[in-house]
Amino acid sequence: MKTLRFLALAAALAAGGAHGQVKDKAPVDAGPYVPSPQSVVADMLKIADIGPKDFVIDLGSGDGRIVLTAAKVFGASGFGVEIKDNLVKESNEAAKVQGVADRVKFITADLFKTDISKATVLTMYLLPNTVNMLKDKLLTELRPGTKILSHDYPLSGWIPERYVQMDLEDKVAISGVTTTLIYLYMVPAKVGPAWTANVPVAVSKEPIRLNLKQQVTRVSGVARVGGRDVPVEEGKLRGEKLSFRLGVGSKSYEFSGTVKGEAIVEGTVAGPGTKGAWTAALAK
Ligand SMILES: C[S@@+](CC[C@H](N)C(=O)[O-])C[C@H]1O[C@@H](n2cnc3c(N)ncnc32)[C@H](O)[C@@H]1O
Repeated sequence: MKTLRFLALAAALAAGGAHGQVKDKAPVDAGPYVPSPQSVVADMLKIADIGPKDFVIDLGSGDGRIVLTAAKVFGASGFGVEIKDNLVKESNEAAKVQGVADRVKFITADLFKTDISKATVLTMYLLPNTVNMLKDKLLTELRPGTKILSHDYPLSGWIPERYVQMDLEDKVAISGVTTTLIYLYMVPAKVGPAWTANVPVAVSKEPIRLNLKQQVTRVSGVARVGGRDVPVEEGKLRGEKLSFRLGVGSKSYEFSGTVKGEAIVEGTVAGPGTKGAWTAALAK
């Protein structure tokens, strides 16, 4: 059987076609049925720190092993979506046998057209071009803080929370090499472009105007402080948690806060001799 990487290459060479296929009636083929080794499944779920409160969705669920393990070993619930009906039947049978059919199910459907908004953890082992075709869907449908785990292939342009690399003999038959990667991402909140921030007087006597630009989890921009523009440094989002640094005069302040729609709440700011609270509202 052709290897995943070979198919990845073939798919990449047909890249124009891959995008064109979205418009076609037939579902995009996101990859052949190649199960993740069970040890990788366990590692993915451990890296996600999965527990009974989690709802796991596996895109292209194959024989169901990721969702089944999440339910049986970690007490989670969830579903798998798979295009091949025989694999879906097999997975639902396995759920019954393993006593987890009340918490997990498997459906025959196109993963690109499946509502994934219930996920707290989303997993995938798909060809690299299709992983990247999912980026807009992931950002639009998943809630901030949702964990995304991808076996072997990254979301290009996204900064992973964590990635783990290991060598597994099991992978030689799949991809021709022992190298195995697991990427963990966290869906960021959407941060509006302009904010008015109320900060401790030690930082600024006037409210600060923040003009921010978001690129997935990275945040950059400028802050208008005391009539001067200063850069927003090291801005990043972990789910709803926003953090950045501002240099005001000779002092440097670390900001953190929680993005809740049109407000930034639970903010703390710390700098030389100053520790206080801040909040911000989206500027109209
Ligand atoms: C590499 S396997 C991964 C199986 C499983 N997630 C695992 O890690 O063990 C990819 C699976 O995606 C399924 N698949 C491919 N394109 C799909 C699509 N458009 N919708 C749903 N499933 C799809 C394939 O049938 C295959 O079973």
